Amino acid sequence: MAEGEEIDWDSLTFSLTQTDYMYVANCELGEPWRPGQMLPYGNLEIDPAAGVLNYGQGIFEGMKAHRTVQNNVVLFRPDENARRFQKGAARLGMPPVPESMFIDAVEQVVAANSRFIPPSGRGALYVRPVLWGTGPIMGVAPAPSYTFCVFVTPVGPYFKGGLTSIELLISDEHHRAAPGGSGGVKAIGNYAPGMMPSKNAKKQGYAEVIYLDAVEHNNIEEVGAANFFCVKDNHIYTPELTGTILPGITRDSIIQLARHRGYEVTETKVSAEFAMQADEAFCCGTAAVISPIGSITHGDQKKVYMDGDVAPVTRELYNALTGVQTELAQDPFSWLHKVELNLPINMV
Ligand code: PLP
Ligand code: COI
Repeated sequence: MAEGEEIDWDSLTFSLTQTDYMYVANCELGEPWRPGQMLPYGNLEIDPAAGVLNYGQGIFEGMKAHRTVQNNVVLFRPDENARRFQKGAARLGMPPVPESMFIDAVEQVVAANSRFIPPSGRGALYVRPVLWGTGPIMGVAPAPSYTFCVFVTPVGPYFKGGLTSIELLISDEHHRAAPGGSGGVKAIGNYAPGMMPSKNAKKQGYAEVIYLDAVEHNNIEEVGAANFFCVKDNHIYTPELTGTILPGITRDSIIQLARHRGYEVTETKVSAEFAMQADEAFCCGTAAVISPIGSITHGDQKKVYMDGDVAPVTRELYNALTGVQTELAQDPFSWLHKVELNLPINMV
């Protein structure tokens, strides 16, 4: 996006706007990471035999920088993203990025692209760290070299309409992850298989698919790229982490905030049947924030949770979470990480 060009903050969607700078670092397998550098945002050169292109050896993260009501720029629990990135790297046989390097890279990219951070309450700067096996490899084995890259884009709501309810469809045909697989980490290969089911659901008027577990075909796992919650008799339930579900940082934050506010929260198996008898349901994630679920359809059954208005516990938790993220409310767990915007840009 050309310098001086105005961004229409109110028309932001969850899509890519090319920004000014990105961060890139490299490492050889078995050696430490070399210091990274800031580069103008643009194409990277890659070997056609790269591990990531042929065998999907790659992971990504998703986090947001918010401009708060006090005009600070903050990241939300970036240390958690750094740790999940390390676990994902280990699962896919890649050299983990040290936590301090991860956070330094994210801070540099946010600071260098500060003109793209939306005003408070009108969106966020979405941060996308990626780690790829970029060296060439023919056998199915870890690539000889790796690239860690961080880029950003200003975003608005993930689901159309912000805090309006979404209609979801339970899939009996497709699963996202199986026990022992890679569902518990943000492996890039977890996402393409969900595109066709998601597209088909959208054609039928649903916002996304709900996946059931791949063993009993009975318990709710996730909503596309977001975690699931439901509320019954003021008690909050969410699927337990079994290794097939991504341990969402928003999920964990909601559990902690809800307990802090006096709610009982149970992490357990949540059957589709139970969820369809609940009073409220919502899904959550960095991109999705908290998205109220208006209805769930499963075969010929449809459960409608709300007509028009956002249900009370969902709204309370939305206000609690976004309140912390924008400094409208106290930050009882010290989750906010302030970014200094005048960092020097380390360009070569
Ligand atoms: N589940 C999946 C499959 C995801 O890709 C995401 C997004 O990162 C989430 C859940 C939510 O995780 P988080 O709250 O850490 O963004
Ligand atoms: C996120 O919530 O950050 C995600 O990664 C969701 C999606 C865009 C993959």
